[in-house]
Amino acid sequence: MEIQKIREIVNPVFNTAKSCTQLIAAAGDEDAKRLTEALGFQSFGEQKYEKSVSEEMAEQVKRLAPAYMVLIESRFRTVNQLLDSRKDSLIADLPCGYTSRGIRMSKQGRAYFGFDLPAVIDDIAPAVESVIGRNDNVHYHAVDATNYESLEAPFSDGDKNLLITTEGLLMYFSQSELEEVFGNIRRLLQKHGGSWVTTDRAYAFRDRDIAHAALNYDEKLTAMYEAVTGKAAATAADVKFGSNVFFDTDEKQVKAFIDRMGFELKEIPMSDHLPQKLGSVSGDADKSVREVFKDLYFWEMTVKTGAQERQTDEKSFSVSTAKQGTTLQVFISGRLDTLTAPELLNKFREAEEPIETIELHVEDMTYISSAGLRILLIMYKSLEDKNGFKMIGVRDSVREIIETTGFESVFM
Ligand SMILES: C[S@@+](CC[C@H](N)C(=O)[O-])C[C@H]1O[C@@H](n2cnc3c(N)ncnc32)[C@H](O)[C@@H]1O
Repeated sequence: MEIQKIREIVNPVFNTAKSCTQLIAAAGDEDAKRLTEALGFQSFGEQKYEKSVSEEMAEQVKRLAPAYMVLIESRFRTVNQLLDSRKDSLIADLPCGYTSRGIRMSKQGRAYFGFDLPAVIDDIAPAVESVIGRNDNVHYHAVDATNYESLEAPFSDGDKNLLITTEGLLMYFSQSELEEVFGNIRRLLQKHGGSWVTTDRAYAFRDRDIAHAALNYDEKLTAMYEAVTGKAAATAADVKFGSNVFFDTDEKQVKAFIDRMGFELKEIPMSDHLPQKLGSVSGDADKSVREVFKDLYFWEMTVKTGAQERQTDEKSFSVSTAKQGTTLQVFISGRLDTLTAPELLNKFREAEEPIETIELHVEDMTYISSAGLRILLIMYKSLEDKNGFKMIGVRDSVREIIETTGFESVFM
């Protein structure tokens, strides 16, 4: 099976990033135009959808283009302006998606690290290089944000003062993944110093207001925006959206979580960083959008002094299989996440038929993310008699993830 297909099965969230860069190009960003061309992406609205997207919905998306454009353009460009005001920091763009930020930073000679899932990095890294040539300051690196080693790998000990920026990521995580990511970022910042800025809560709660303003307060179009956006997010990402504490409607809960995870929070007015001119709106719509920005904030997090240092019991990943009659035994060690799950899927597909029982020996499996759970589900579903699916030696930490993600009744 083709590697990109396997990655799509393992973690389809990367599909959400394509339209972001198409929208930034449509808003007039020259770097994004060159990059989307290099990537072979079509213009926004021209793309061919999967069968799951109806023609009617594709038509609606086109009508709503001004709203989508202003959302993504404003997010991208306010972060760019923030980065411009922090010249001493080393930029860690998590997730970079297919955006043209690396091209922009190369012109400024700044150190830039673009992090994303392997499916994205394999495409964006050569595409950016084809636009700017080889550049020692611009790095792309395949990660899973839940996997600390992958995040730490491209940095050297001397790399200090990171500015980690997160636009469009935290809503895709389950609660256990969110906690893993917070722990990883805390550890990165404890080692290298700096801070972590995200727009994710602001846009999750205020996107409707921004869209409403961009659509000149047209109620019908705004209602359409809400209907289409809900469906599109679910279709593209195939995950529950915003189902962790970061998107709790009660802000106190989120702030308590941030504190518990060892961070201090500062709110920075986004309006201070909104460009004078946006490419996606003009006239009254532009004025209305600026009104909304008056109370929109970046959330900037720094590690509290004395915050706990994260200890992890990281065994390196391995997977092996053995066949005993119609029983497939699978031995997994280490973390099962987006980076490692393709190997498990491959081993399973290579296993000789018939398989009536699957025994998963997971005494040494230290973590499982949604990507890993997705593969277990494929294995489980392949069995005629579901009682033949057995997990042996599940650690407490993994059991807790399986329980909180609702898979307990399926797998155990
Ligand atoms: C909505 S896009 C946003 C990308 C970019 N920041 C932008 O504004 O265009 C979400 C991105 O998150 C990435 N992603 C999802 N899960 C991830 C994970 N566990 N680790 C790293 N990146 C992840 C996806 O591959 C995708 O590129």
